Amino acid sequence: MSESTSTSGVAKTGPVGVGVIGAGNISTQYLTNLTAFPDVDVRFVADIDLERAAEQAAKFGVPASGTVEQLLADPEIEIVVNLTIPKAHAEVALQAVAAGKNVWTEKPIALDRASGQRVLETARAAGLRVACAPDTFLGAGIQTARRVLESGAIGRPQTALTLMQQPGPESWHPNPAFLFQEGAGPLFDVGPYYVTALIQLFGPVKRVAAVASKSKPVRTIGSGPLAGQTFEVTVPSHVTAIFEFESGQTSQSIFSFDSQIKRTLFEVTGVDGALEVNDPNMFVGDLVLHDGGDEPKTIAVEGETAARGTGVVELARAIRAGVPERASGEQAFHALDVMVSTIEAAERAEWVDVVSTFTPTPALPDGWDPAESTLA
Ligand SMILES: NC(=O)c1ccc[n+]([C@@H]2O[C@H](COP(=O)([O-])OP(=O)(O)OC[C@H]3O[C@@H](n4cnc5c(N)ncnc54)[C@H](O)[C@@H]3O)[C@@H](O)[C@H]2O)c1
Repeated sequence: MSESTSTSGVAKTGPVGVGVIGAGNISTQYLTNLTAFPDVDVRFVADIDLERAAEQAAKFGVPASGTVEQLLADPEIEIVVNLTIPKAHAEVALQAVAAGKNVWTEKPIALDRASGQRVLETARAAGLRVACAPDTFLGAGIQTARRVLESGAIGRPQTALTLMQQPGPESWHPNPAFLFQEGAGPLFDVGPYYVTALIQLFGPVKRVAAVASKSKPVRTIGSGPLAGQTFEVTVPSHVTAIFEFESGQTSQSIFSFDSQIKRTLFEVTGVDGALEVNDPNMFVGDLVLHDGGDEPKTIAVEGETAARGTGVVELARAIRAGVPERASGEQAFHALDVMVSTIEAAERAEWVDVVSTFTPTPALPDGWDPAESTLA
């Protein structure tokens, strides 16, 4: 991957211009952080709802807002941050690539393997990058867990157990139907945090077995102007999966929007001990080491603690340095392949081989901080 260049072929320097497409719920967290990080310069907010785009731009002091086409016409924007709903992710990413922009996209990278592959191949052919959420694995929690496991503290890690149980987001999200339809549900909406953390720690998945179910065909919106309206649930709302990794390690996971017990759990068991890891949907949290001593030991997490947008800064710095970004499209595509394979395994009641693979990127260096100014 070469250093970023302008259309005149001159290497660009300084903070990286960013345009945000999708001014909905999660854009507030992104805009709060990205407008505070000096290595990126947020220039534009676009949405099909122009009023929403204008409101978010005004709230965060972003100089311009408007349509996707207007955003893509700004030559100073080098990264498009795609915060649209899952079924629009691939289409918006392809639009951005066609306009010569690198992409940071919310998860999942696409709804199916073919469109995910098309996004990656089109970007590769154009010499552009597509990086993908989640970036929580760049947080202090998972980065510290990687260091602890690599230090041999639990011996060779062999298995992992993960649980994500909750009643579902329709009680708090003002427009939640998409979270129960293709591209979401507990597996595709929250699963990417768990799958990404698992493949960061254990490497690529080789094959998958699963069962899946749905508790209610219809749910009711619980808050906001649409409260009381109902919508259809079209994907499984409870998924149990077993992954076997290329390394021979294994994991078992539950992804559920069907439980009144709100619980998350992520633990790794090795030959000589076990490590309780923080919720991978969070950037920080306690790690607890069980190494056979009298008492479990709480481990202080080390590393940056910022929230969403961290991966955009890591991408921006990687573009300027001409090195690979950590939240790569290849990693996201493998995560998508694992999740699609999980649904296929449940539907067919058999193991499904995962064809794609990826190479995990190195842990962040100590002291890496998205809030630092490194490109001025
Ligand atoms: N809400 C959360 O807590 C949360 C957390 C992490 C990740 N995410 C992810 O972020 C993404 C967005 O989620 P959200 O909750 O903000 O959704 P949302 O429905 O609140 O917002 C999505 C916005 O995208 C706009 N949009 C849709 N298609 C578009 C298109 N083709 N061009 C331009 N604009 C378009 C919509 O008008 C809307 O304003 C999803 O992929 C979701 O998985 C959300």
